[in-house]
Amino acid sequence: MARPQRMFVCQSCGAVYAKWAGKCEACGGWNCIVEESAGTAAAGAPPGRLAGKGRRIEFAALSGTTEQPPRLVTSIAEFDRVCGSGLVPGSALLIGGDPGIGKSTLLLQVAAALARSGVGCAYISGEEALDQVRLRARRLGLEQTAVQLAAATSIRDIVATLEARDGPAVAVIDSIQTMWLDSVDSVPGTVTQVRASAQALIELAKRRGVTVLLVGHVTKEGAIAGPRVLEHMVDTVLYFEGERGHQFRILRAVKNRFGPTDEIGVFEMSDRGLTDVANPSALFLAERRGAVSGACVFAGVEGTRPLLVEIQALVAPSSFATPRHAVVGWDSGRLAMVIAVLEARCGVAVGPNDVYLNVAGGLRIAEPAADLAVAAALLSSLADTPVPSDMVVFGEIGLGGEVRAVSQREARLKEAAKLGFRTALAPSIVAGAGQPAPRPVGGINVDEIGHLSDLV
Ligand code: TYD
Ligand code: MG
Repeated sequence: MARPQRMFVCQSCGAVYAKWAGKCEACGGWNCIVEESAGTAAAGAPPGRLAGKGRRIEFAALSGTTEQPPRLVTSIAEFDRVCGSGLVPGSALLIGGDPGIGKSTLLLQVAAALARSGVGCAYISGEEALDQVRLRARRLGLEQTAVQLAAATSIRDIVATLEARDGPAVAVIDSIQTMWLDSVDSVPGTVTQVRASAQALIELAKRRGVTVLLVGHVTKEGAIAGPRVLEHMVDTVLYFEGERGHQFRILRAVKNRFGPTDEIGVFEMSDRGLTDVANPSALFLAERRGAVSGACVFAGVEGTRPLLVEIQALVAPSSFATPRHAVVGWDSGRLAMVIAVLEARCGVAVGPNDVYLNVAGGLRIAEPAADLAVAAALLSSLADTPVPSDMVVFGEIGLGGEVRAVSQREARLKEAAKLGFRTALAPSIVAGAGQPAPRPVGGINVDEIGHLSDLV
């Protein structure tokens, strides 16, 4: 008789080992390897020659009927935008985020909005009891909507229910870490269970045209625990993020087979739930106070939308042997680069000081176009001279200190003009052959800059 196979699976990246180890060689994590039993869905087919005959697959022509199925529009504008103008029937989405960030609230609101427009919608909670979900719905003013509620964790039951002819068109599974499949011999929340449960739900989505929204909790390290291994299985991965103390929440598409990635949706949190923020720039700048040294408004672009945010820097003499550099909302490697360029190319000694950098409002910026705004904020703090309060800044900085052009110049300037800014510090444009000259944007004066030393 064959011995039951044992395997050890890393719970954060899904790597499989034959024996236990303290450190995962694949992702570098410590104490994340757990014994799980092999031999079920996750283990796959046994290797070797295939017994029996397979069925021949019928091929179809490339040109066939491809009527675009209508998208399910929730009328929560920010959510629809991030999904790519609504949910695609039969697709599987993963919504990740820290515990307590507001995933359940968002998805209950999405389910209610869909139910209101006549789409059959089920909300299956594995974390909360029915009464708790009802209580939340009442607080959000959604208790009169036709969302079908269930508290369940068995995938077998859930699939059987959703498969019924009169089953819902959209199902929310909150959360995938609480679900379990009886044919898999591991505890709920392990990589094997999460993967097998998701596989069953995704297969159902494709077969029956049900849209499934899977909620996944994220670990401290930023990876969706367990569900990180799901990212390639689902059609769309959305992250719900934000700083705990702030009232803004950002829904970000990191993968989308049916729409753009890097698109963001901005929500404001209240005791009545999440509300769309139609004009995020105004919101992010709302708490700005006149001309303060060290603050600079960056004209950024998130996805297809321009977004103005304030970048704050504080440069202060260090009381430590090694100066501290702390960053919130931006890449610390990029900050080190900007400081190095300021020192090497412009002779500005930032090094011996402590440097603190913060993106106001709890937003995370990934664009290199913020380099120039960061440099301006640093210089402003260092010289204790405010950046003019009606000025926006954008531009990428190269290692030689040159300021490089960035995309969507016009959109950035337009957004700044709309919010009442009068001047912009932007990369100078070299009118190359075949390139159209930049069109002036009404109401805004562009100060072109070619090298960082011009700013100094
Ligand atoms: P919840 O949706 O339960 O977070 P998650 O499912 O991601 O763990 O929200 C966490 C808490 O925040 C909950 O007590 C409700 C509260 N909350 C509000 O009061 N208003 C809001 O707009 C949101 C999003 C959350
Ligand atoms: Mg929840």
